[in-house]
Amino acid sequence: MSLNYGIIGTGMMGCEHIRNLKQIPDVNISAIADPNENSRAWGMSACGDIFKPQQYTDYKELLKREDIDVVVVASPNFTHIDVMRDIFDTDKHVLLEKPMCTNLTDGLEVLEMSKKHKGIVWIGLEYRFMAPIQSVIDHASEVGNIKMLSIREHRFPFLEKVDNWNRFNTNTGGTLVEKCCHFFDLMNLLVPSKPIKIYASGGQDVNHLNEQYNGKKPDIIDNSFVLIDYEHGQRALLDLCMFAEGGTYEQEIVLTGDKGKLETHIPGNELVITNRKDYSYKTLEVNPDSRVKEIGFHHGASYIEHLELINCIKSGNKPLVDSQSGLDSIILGLAAQQSITTGNPVNLKDFLNEEYEL
Ligand SMILES: NC(=O)c1ccc[n+]([C@@H]2O[C@H](COP(=O)([O-])OP(=O)(O)OC[C@H]3O[C@@H](n4cnc5c(N)ncnc54)[C@H](O)[C@@H]3O)[C@@H](O)[C@H]2O)c1
Repeated sequence: MSLNYGIIGTGMMGCEHIRNLKQIPDVNISAIADPNENSRAWGMSACGDIFKPQQYTDYKELLKREDIDVVVVASPNFTHIDVMRDIFDTDKHVLLEKPMCTNLTDGLEVLEMSKKHKGIVWIGLEYRFMAPIQSVIDHASEVGNIKMLSIREHRFPFLEKVDNWNRFNTNTGGTLVEKCCHFFDLMNLLVPSKPIKIYASGGQDVNHLNEQYNGKKPDIIDNSFVLIDYEHGQRALLDLCMFAEGGTYEQEIVLTGDKGKLETHIPGNELVITNRKDYSYKTLEVNPDSRVKEIGFHHGASYIEHLELINCIKSGNKPLVDSQSGLDSIILGLAAQQSITTGNPVNLKDFLNEEYEL
């Protein structure tokens, strides 16, 4: 069974998807859609000699194509809701880039519509498929009862995007939604309890301070500490700094239980497992997934994401990363953004106002 793809949005991430799909057998890209001429040219260049897609300025024309089985949505965050509403009028499978949406109302709508949709709805939270993170997931039971999770991301500032859409909260949902939904997704995966309260402190202190777009200054934060309390007493911490380029690691993850802890970092190829009982630790080599044929910007995780999505389509299985995961990850980001704005902790039950239960 070969699969025919359409790509909506051929900026940085759309082109990464194209390069991944080029390495996968029995896949064709027969259409790309992007209103921006330069981006369409990037998309065509990424296709090279492998795919010869039809180009569209309006994604709605692409969606009319009966021959397209799978759509990849890699347009800016604020466009996701409208694109998804139109995709829900079709039966097509979809890989929707993270963050699923920029606000709770839209997220709830996508979740509800996904339940009725005939095709698979897969959310692009591919950090799960990075080998060091996969190793933490695989070995999580070795720490005993999980008590604490700490995720640190210290990296370079937000890159320039087409039409600078990522400089404003209204377009992205805020830094903690746009960037950090990946980490909240990992917290949701690893901590075996419901998040109940979230407190965040953050600000825009170094980056984009002298930029202006149509007379407006960017309002996106560049650093934050986010603390989450869980129903069964666990705690998680996100430490984000986006003016920390040049370090050895971009992400460091520590999962601690009552018996020991796991530590890993990205980039990297090791997992350190500490055992409290005998004061010992061992270092396991983390081997990259041997299926990866395209490393891309995400250490091969986007490639695995595509393979797993194709497996689900072919086997009729449910998506490994579904709309519920997409929604749960943005809820933590949105609540953290609210905490920064108000200066107060956010009780997640109040935040969700009985519209949804985590
Ligand atoms: N999974 C990840 O790790 C990851 C990494 C980077 C970006 N992303 C996500 O991918 C999406 C795209 O980000 P990017 O970095 O490629 O941005 P980008 O600015 O490089 O590309 C976005 C493209 O979408 C196009 N576009 C705008 N409106 C459109 C519409 N209505 N229909 C079709 N195309 C439209 C723009 O012209 C641009 O070419 C965002 O949602 C972003 O959060 C995910």
